[in-house]
Amino acid sequence: MNTLCLHDKKFEICIPSPDVQKAVDAIALRMNLELCDKNPIFISILNGSFMFTSDLMKRLIFNCELSFIKLSSYKGLNSSGEINELVGLNENLENRMVVILEDIIDTGTTIAKTVEKLRSFHPSEIRIATLFLKPEIFKGNITLDYVGIEVPNKFIVGCGLDYNGLGRNYPDLYALVP
Ligand code: IMP
Ligand code: MG
Repeated sequence: MNTLCLHDKKFEICIPSPDVQKAVDAIALRMNLELCDKNPIFISILNGSFMFTSDLMKRLIFNCELSFIKLSSYKGLNSSGEINELVGLNENLENRMVVILEDIIDTGTTIAKTVEKLRSFHPSEIRIATLFLKPEIFKGNITLDYVGIEVPNKFIVGCGLDYNGLGRNYPDLYALVP
């Protein structure tokens, strides 16, 4: 499918699924080298990261744990900059290598606040992996350890990302048609 209609908006394909999968391959390759002896716990941020998390985990060939947390900062087409509480974390992170899995880093507000909250559990190290990054608007000063694909500053859906609940299921990435 080259276009999607979600609610009142039209989206056109911008990154086909095989290219997204190549980006996941590249992240997995590095993790298999860098994290295989670190006993990491992956923390996936729901809802958007479910597809990236599944695609990535299938490629990792070392023992690791996975936990899901939920934060919600997005309403409609703009990042609100507001973060709700972190829910769903039951594991002890003390002295653990934590790797956060994000679908997309936009302004960087969500990831910065997530890192801040996770630090309070005293992990030995926190790394960040994001499938997509909008480098034109990312204003954080935190290090992004694993970045899949840099995307333009457009509203995108697919690959787990939604527009008001729709679009998460599509394996290609789509951008809003203005
Ligand atoms: P940030 O706090 O501005 O970095 O936004 C992060 C969160 O907003 C992401 O984890 C996504 O869930 C959501 N988000 C950011 N950009 C987009 C987009 O283009 N489409 C859909 N969701 C987005
Ligand atoms: Mg997200």
